[in-house]
Amino acid sequence: MHHERIAILDYGSQYTRLITRRLRDLGAFGLVYPAGATALEIAGADLKGVILSGGPNSVMEPGAPPLDPAILALGVPVLGVCYGQQLMARDLGGELHRSARREYGKAAIRVQGSGSVLFQGLDLEQDVWMSHGDHVETAPAGFSVTASTAGVPVAAMEDRARGLYGIQFHPEVTHTTHGNAVLQNFLQACGMALDWNAGHFIEEKTADIRRQVGQGRVVLGLSGGVDSSVAAVLLHRAIGQQLTCVFVDTGLMRKDERQQVQAAFAPFAMTVRWVDAGPEFLGALAGVSDPETKRKIIGRTFIEIFDREAGQVHADFLAQGTLYPDVIESSGVGGAVLVKSHHNVGGLPDIMKLKLVEPLRELFKDEVRRAGLALGLPEAMVWRHPFPGPGLAVRIPGPITAERVAILQDADAIFIAELEASGWYRRTSQCFAVLLPVMTVGIMGDERTYENMCALRAVTSEDFMTADWARLPHDLLEKVAQRIVNEVKGINRVVFDITSKPPATIEYE
Ligand code: XMP
Repeated sequence: MHHERIAILDYGSQYTRLITRRLRDLGAFGLVYPAGATALEIAGADLKGVILSGGPNSVMEPGAPPLDPAILALGVPVLGVCYGQQLMARDLGGELHRSARREYGKAAIRVQGSGSVLFQGLDLEQDVWMSHGDHVETAPAGFSVTASTAGVPVAAMEDRARGLYGIQFHPEVTHTTHGNAVLQNFLQACGMALDWNAGHFIEEKTADIRRQVGQGRVVLGLSGGVDSSVAAVLLHRAIGQQLTCVFVDTGLMRKDERQQVQAAFAPFAMTVRWVDAGPEFLGALAGVSDPETKRKIIGRTFIEIFDREAGQVHADFLAQGTLYPDVIESSGVGGAVLVKSHHNVGGLPDIMKLKLVEPLRELFKDEVRRAGLALGLPEAMVWRHPFPGPGLAVRIPGPITAERVAILQDADAIFIAELEASGWYRRTSQCFAVLLPVMTVGIMGDERTYENMCALRAVTSEDFMTADWARLPHDLLEKVAQRIVNEVKGINRVVFDITSKPPATIEYE
């Protein structure tokens, strides 16, 4: 399927993928190409425009990533952002100013003259986000300067006759107040139809998956979280019974989690191996209190079980619901890193030798949710709060027993049910109960009790790297606390966690 396309040449800016994301938000499809791509490589009847991204280099240094001059003569509009603008200016005879230090942060631009295409309909004074060393001092012949700042004479330039546009600032960053509008004006100049949506993404990826997988078999670890669920449904749509999902019930999941996932997936009629591994995990964790040891045991047990199951499937491919933010953070924590550190002695597990299928790799979380809804996943699955791989084990400081897991599941289920009933579930990012290793005295009726203490954790967060504690209404907290103490045997006191991240983490271990 061919859809109108903007080619984005990636000169190495950390924001390049954000450009594609903004374009998708505006209804346009953008495809990223490496910096050295030639006009021939990007040309095509579906090409409507080109964006040259920012980048960390200086265009005045030898070996700086170049621009094929033929791209500027393709007859489609070209927008240079930061490094992209400087490249364009350099190659067309403008004058550049080299500065010793990088300027970074917010700046105010002033739009100049009239008739600007990029600033059409926008305020004359705007806040923008800059991150640059060099800047364009004099625009090349044929260009008019359309905006400047106190320190940058050519913050924006346009050659409307040739359809060439340059901006020093980053329109894709949210700090740039009118960034989306500037991009939209560019897309309009390109004559884009702006009709790209989740449905197109699904069609496109279905075709990609079929092409990549052919007649092969694919195995996917289904956790019931949004990412693996959307990946599963998308793959199933593309390759049907060539896909086998493996759901490992660690026994450390939320209350009735397996049943909920089973119910959500029943209409799709896909092949899922439901593995009841609770006893295996609990056995491996018996008597272990140290947080890191717990995590390692869980990671290793999970891989062993998953490897065993995947072996039965005789898979050629391993599918994963990796999202774009995971790609950036792939050097951080997570299953894969754990796998490697544990298997570097005895060699990699078999699943690590499979070829990867990652159909959500370009997407951000909210886009995955939209795709999930378009694929027919229920709202409740799509809007689920994230749940850590090690599950309730990291919410039960101290030793894990079947009894403690059951107590926590019951308390957690009450909290979640009340959040949903009050509308607070969707207004928060992650909420859960924690079973503390503390016994306190209480009084119920005429009886003295000596039971566990439960903490409620509720946070709001954009990316889970930082988080703020959610200001839940006191009445809601009271109701949750009352219900937990009355209905869950084993808990006689409830506290609410009012620590943000940092300094605390979201999870307790
Ligand atoms: P912390 O506790 O580090 O958590 O503030 C940040 C986010 O990551 C989740 N988390 C995990 N997810 N495997 C996962 O898949 C893990 O080992 C893990 N540890 C933490 C946590 O739930 C929160 O959303």
